[in-house]
Amino acid sequence: MPDWSYLRALHRAAPRIADLFAADPARADRFSVKTADLMLDYSKTALDDTARAGLVALCDAGGVAERREAMFTGAPINETEGRAVLHTALRNLDGGSVLVDGADVMPGIRDTLARMRGFCDAVRTGAAMGVGGPFTDVINIGIGGSDLGPAMAVAALAPYHDGPRCHFVSNVDGAHIADTLRGLDPTTTLVIVASKTFTTVETMTNARTARDWMQTGGGDPERQFAAVSSAPGATAEFGIMPENVFGFQDWVGGRYSVWGPVGLSLMLAIGPAGFDAFLRGAQAMDRHFRSADFADNMPVILALVGLWHNQVCGYATRAVLPYDQRLSRLPAYLQQLEMESNGKSVAMDGSALTGPSGPVVWGEPGTNGQHAFYQLIHQGTAVVPCEFMVAAQGHEAALAHHHRLLVANCLAQSEALMRGRSLRQARAMLAGRGLSDPELDRQARHRVFPGNRPSVTLIYPKLTPFVLGQIVALYEHRVFVEGVILGINSFDQWGVELGKELATSLGPVVDGSESAAGKDGSTAALVDYVHRHGGG
Ligand code: F6P
Repeated sequence: MPDWSYLRALHRAAPRIADLFAADPARADRFSVKTADLMLDYSKTALDDTARAGLVALCDAGGVAERREAMFTGAPINETEGRAVLHTALRNLDGGSVLVDGADVMPGIRDTLARMRGFCDAVRTGAAMGVGGPFTDVINIGIGGSDLGPAMAVAALAPYHDGPRCHFVSNVDGAHIADTLRGLDPTTTLVIVASKTFTTVETMTNARTARDWMQTGGGDPERQFAAVSSAPGATAEFGIMPENVFGFQDWVGGRYSVWGPVGLSLMLAIGPAGFDAFLRGAQAMDRHFRSADFADNMPVILALVGLWHNQVCGYATRAVLPYDQRLSRLPAYLQQLEMESNGKSVAMDGSALTGPSGPVVWGEPGTNGQHAFYQLIHQGTAVVPCEFMVAAQGHEAALAHHHRLLVANCLAQSEALMRGRSLRQARAMLAGRGLSDPELDRQARHRVFPGNRPSVTLIYPKLTPFVLGQIVALYEHRVFVEGVILGINSFDQWGVELGKELATSLGPVVDGSESAAGKDGSTAALVDYVHRHGGG
């Protein structure tokens, strides 16, 4: 864990962001990073040259370059699980070999990708069918990393859909699967059970329910079920035909898995060529991340801005605000990516972290958020660094005026957050309304915006598969760099275990076969309420 005191002192002495612009006409250019497609503008933060240099120095001190190379080359950097971290190999389409324990993993990856393409072509052309005819619908049953990636990307790439309709069921709440199955034809629906471990209770419960539904409705699970998993024994035991099983290795973490078989539903929706473009986008970001100097490296800069806000300024959350309706699932996706990766309190060496771990990540698409929670972002007492995203061009050519409004709103928000409005300006605005002086003063106070609130804006040409691949890989590498500098392992997730264990032990208590004796008073009272009101 770095010593943040130097940077904290810089933060305390920092001028207002607006003054940084006044002092440096080239600030927007000097504090933005460009790749061939994307531009990340971080000029509306309090960083100046000194602070940026201090942050970049953390990369050297933390060994970011060495860890980055170790990741790309298959070293077991997930030390608590003794595994390599190689989601980048899944998109290493025309790159060289990648060795894990001396064996090249690329032939296996290419083979699986070729099988996925063949499967998708067969489904999409009708060569593979359900009992009732060509597949009309696909349900991906999975949770966490086996759901959020494809669900986010399928929503994001709606203009490219030319395959069967895709649905996602994740929650063990029966409402989720019941609402999804209603209206679907069990004889023309393909079910993909996506689970790395093939033991996750939510997924296996939903998979069994879907299988019963299909059998009862005249479908054939043998023909109409596929699986995505690292556990071939378990998929066979469930009854899924080996030719419909797409495997991946334990060096692909769940929340980093959309690039391989977990992306099968995405490939079915947009086709193998579209999926290829998605992978190529990520590969382009990998190459940039691996080769660009830290100060011009988009994932590194995004990470350093994140650390500056969280560790140096002490801002506990960050909002992800895509001005792109089709990125509506991106905040949820990034919540898992960032919070499951970096929400840790123990460093790699077992010592306790002395500062905060990663921030709370949250968000909603603009402009909807503007009419909900932006009030707090503009005038609340907590500072929430914002990460805006917007495309220069929308897909709806006939609705270009919508897109202009969307862009204007996005840019207006970051400008308003930075500029704010002083009491004097608020008074001037209200003057001429015939208010008494005290009343003018009272009302003006409510219209003051503190301003000086930081944001970054990621701007991209258009949300194509290639661009989405770049954006997702950008955030993956950002999380990696933050984790390295904090000294934590971003690739395990022990924090989800305890709740799982207790849910298992509470099952018999909730269904009444075991007593709640020994449980704490609150848990026992809640169980009692459930029993008295007919649950269990
Ligand atoms: O929530 C914990 C977790 O292990 C995630 O990391 C993972 O993405 C999710 O559960 C689903 O796991 P699986 O793919 O094994 O069903």
